[in-house]
Amino acid sequence: MMSFYMRDVVSIIDFSRDDLEKLFRMTDKMMPYKRGGIEVLKGKIMASLFLEPSTRTRLSFESAMKRLGGDVITVSGAEGTSLMKGESFIDTIRMLDNYADIIVVRHKYEGAARLAADIAEVPIINAGDGRRQHPTQTMIDLYTVYKLKGRIDDLTYGLVGDLKYARTAASFIMGLSIFRPKKVYLISHELLRAREEILDFLKRSGIKYEEVTNLREVISELDILYVTRIQKERFPDPLEYEKVKGSYKITLDILKDAKDDLKILHPLPKVDEIDPKVDETKYAAYFIQASYGVPLRMALLALIFGAEVEK
Ligand code: NCD
Repeated sequence: MMSFYMRDVVSIIDFSRDDLEKLFRMTDKMMPYKRGGIEVLKGKIMASLFLEPSTRTRLSFESAMKRLGGDVITVSGAEGTSLMKGESFIDTIRMLDNYADIIVVRHKYEGAARLAADIAEVPIINAGDGRRQHPTQTMIDLYTVYKLKGRIDDLTYGLVGDLKYARTAASFIMGLSIFRPKKVYLISHELLRAREEILDFLKRSGIKYEEVTNLREVISELDILYVTRIQKERFPDPLEYEKVKGSYKITLDILKDAKDDLKILHPLPKVDEIDPKVDETKYAAYFIQASYGVPLRMALLALIFGAEVEK
């Protein structure tokens, strides 16, 4: 019962299958309140400290907190803060620890959320740390699969795109290891292959996986296709980006060979990696996936603060 209580959310692998199933049940309970709200966190304050661009994650966290009757204080971008005066990230976290009951943080450095969790007394939620983790996005992704397929186990997954720099992909792969997928295909350009640490993780977790370069080879086998944007901003060398730009695109033509009930997920924002014509097909599940952002984050916040929700 208390597995989420006052807990930090730094990495998806800190959570068990039981934890995630409990979160999914709580998300189901939140569905009726995603518009009208339910005031179970009155008097609680959430600080959101986003030092990298964000629309969905920050606004859906803030909406979730407000729907629960809580309050929000927010920093979007270092501009306008004392970080610009040279204040350290650590000191900023120390201050927010006094102002809020929970802190949601996004930072370009890997490990920033873990560091914040070590310093702050209040719970820290990692809303993305560099290319490493984005655990609440993964919770939404797994919940989406569970809702659309009735299970997460025994499905064949394809992850396509920027497997090197996209933290949503890395996080999703790790999240799958908590369940029993049938097989995971890592589909990418040679220069966008998953990093060694992710491949090592897959090997250790015993998940059956295969790296391929062409989506067409495997499309007919997939139950779930997880697409990511090329993370242009994370390329150390702009020339490297030029080589892979536009190297994949999900089109109606590629989907001709897909299973009837294939579902396409994307953490969004999407740029040009999915033909907009695909949006209108039965395969596109990314807008449904995005619609789960607020209720799932409501559920997570409610569990962290131990709020009861009747249904
Ligand atoms: C992603 C991110 O910031 O990691 N966005 C999100 O939170 N849904 C994905 C991206 O920027 O491509």
